[in-house]
Amino acid sequence: MNHLSAFSKSSIGRKYIVGITGAILVGFIIGHLLGNLQIFLGQEYINSYAEKLRALGALLWVIRLFLLATVILHIWFTIRLAIDNRKARPVPYARKEHVKSTYASRSMWISGLVLLAFIIYHIAHFTVQVADPRFALLKLDPLNRHDVYSMMVYGFQNVFVSGFYVIAMYLLAMHLSHGASSFFQSLGLNDKKLTPKLATGARIFAWLIFAGYVSMPIAVLAGLIKPAQQL
Ligand code: HEM
Repeated sequence: MNHLSAFSKSSIGRKYIVGITGAILVGFIIGHLLGNLQIFLGQEYINSYAEKLRALGALLWVIRLFLLATVILHIWFTIRLAIDNRKARPVPYARKEHVKSTYASRSMWISGLVLLAFIIYHIAHFTVQVADPRFALLKLDPLNRHDVYSMMVYGFQNVFVSGFYVIAMYLLAMHLSHGASSFFQSLGLNDKKLTPKLATGARIFAWLIFAGYVSMPIAVLAGLIKPAQQL
């Protein structure tokens, strides 16, 4: 326990915690994307996927609480690191470095905070379903399951909602590519050849995630995916 407490108080320990919790959240982001992309396969696929998740019952709540704890730790240790950095810098950075480092950290804070607001809105939108009055009018699908397919289609037919999703996904991509690069640095991976390759890999990965997520609202707005029931 003492080792754990010393680890979480050291700067490198805190960086690891931010990086590892970030990696867990990336795991969720990949799984969530693959699950939701089933909207392109049709109502049957996405509704049965959502039904299977709901059937997990208590386990779903364990996963939700684990994810919530991961988000809280990620934010908490990011704040602790920022406080440490400020305290440990009696002499200010040279002008050029200062501009560069504050730009990177400022963009991480802004994208992180908008993402947090997005997640709260997103849960109100699709999980609690209180953000769109039309969702209450949705009937069950032919197999008596919640019609997640039509809910997503009606949700994304609103251009402002879809616009917010696209902006949030853009910030998610920025957050992922910056976050991954700074995590590699914390691990001491400062190799001249490897570091740029890892950074490029992180950038490509982040933009694939962006493309995957935005493909859904865009396909709905373009009329490529239509609701399976009329309201
Ligand atoms: C186009 C993009 C997205 C779509 C279509 C989508 C779809 C959904 C749907 C349908 C649900 C409700 C599941 C249910 O209750 O049956 C949901 C829940 C959720 N989504 Fe997303 N999502 C998107 C992007 C994201 C992103 C980028 C994140 C995280 C950064 C995220 C995090 C969550 C979380 C945390 C939940 C709550 C899970 C739960 O409590 O069970 N989503 N999403």
